[in-house]
Amino acid sequence: DAAEKAGYEHFMLKEMYEQPRTIVDTISPRVRDRNGEREIHIEELNMTDDELRAIKKIHIVACGSAYHAGVTGKYVLEGLARIPVEVDLASEFRYRNPLLEEGCMVIVISQSGETADTLAALRESREKGFQVLGIVNVVGSSIAREADACLYTWAGPEIAVATTKAYSAQLAALYLLAMKLAKVRGLMSDREFTALLADLKCLPDQIELLLGQKQKIQRFANRYLGARDIFFIGRGIDYAISLEGSLKLKEISYVHSEAYAAGELKHGTISLIEDGTLVVAVSTQPELYQKMISNIVEVKARGAFVMAVTNEENKAVEKASDYVVYIPQTNPYFTNSLAIIPLQLFAYYVAVGRGCDVDKPRNLAKSVTVE
Ligand code: G6P
Repeated sequence: DAAEKAGYEHFMLKEMYEQPRTIVDTISPRVRDRNGEREIHIEELNMTDDELRAIKKIHIVACGSAYHAGVTGKYVLEGLARIPVEVDLASEFRYRNPLLEEGCMVIVISQSGETADTLAALRESREKGFQVLGIVNVVGSSIAREADACLYTWAGPEIAVATTKAYSAQLAALYLLAMKLAKVRGLMSDREFTALLADLKCLPDQIELLLGQKQKIQRFANRYLGARDIFFIGRGIDYAISLEGSLKLKEISYVHSEAYAAGELKHGTISLIEDGTLVVAVSTQPELYQKMISNIVEVKARGAFVMAVTNEENKAVEKASDYVVYIPQTNPYFTNSLAIIPLQLFAYYVAVGRGCDVDKPRNLAKSVTVE
């Protein structure tokens, strides 16, 4: 056991540290040179450029953190490739008699490739005559075998119940897909494409840098070991990051937590803010900085202590919040890959500080094979 953890205290910490490698392994085999130009080649897709251009709609179906990766995928695919995307929890998708129309593509995302609800959604889609693309980590798993095409996330075995590196690899796979679709649909200039590729390439080193802040995050986390509730707020992609940050925290530390779309606060959650309640405000989308500052001011006026996770350039947030974690500069579509790192570390250190069984949280299973 100790040898497998390679000197780390828990598998979860080890796997968090494997994230830079995981992203390299997922991206690099799919970026290649052709006639002196770089291109994204997703061999597994098995679709011609004409077929990719004909996609009218995408349905993403998944559970847990894979679903959260899918929520980010929606923003990235819609933003870059201008294809409408619906994201469903697999356990909901099946029972709402989903409207799948000609030209739609179904993507199921799963680390284990064995999640019962996700597998059932895949089978239902195929029975209805639709092609299913799996984004899967475990080679040869049920979803990998039954999907029409399977894009593997090369994260390697993940032992900790709470996913970290597989989630990061799922994001990377979705970025590649969105860029590929944008390119074949003529929506991205060569310059933009090259700039995005350069940003993708920087992610592993930038994650490394953020992991290097673990002591700072640990000190901060130690102040919240007795917290009753912790809220995560964000807009757009930052909302998707909040969903995952909140899930990580509650699944391993058992501290109650909720993620809220920041604009929805005033429709409910704000009534729960009391003196000293920690609110984690994720703000990585430049066009939304100002709106997020308004939300930070709103919760602070009710006594919240605000930790902001934002880009280096967003100095205005420093005045509005109590504690700031900066992430390095990247394209706004890729910020999830960076902002999630301090949130994973935060969840991890709250759980460690509370003496929880980090790798095997109570009542949870790594792979849920019952519906
Ligand atoms: C379980 C795990 C989660 C995971 C979810 C979906 O609940 O604890 O970490 O996100 O299942 O699993 P999958 O293997 O389909 O990604």
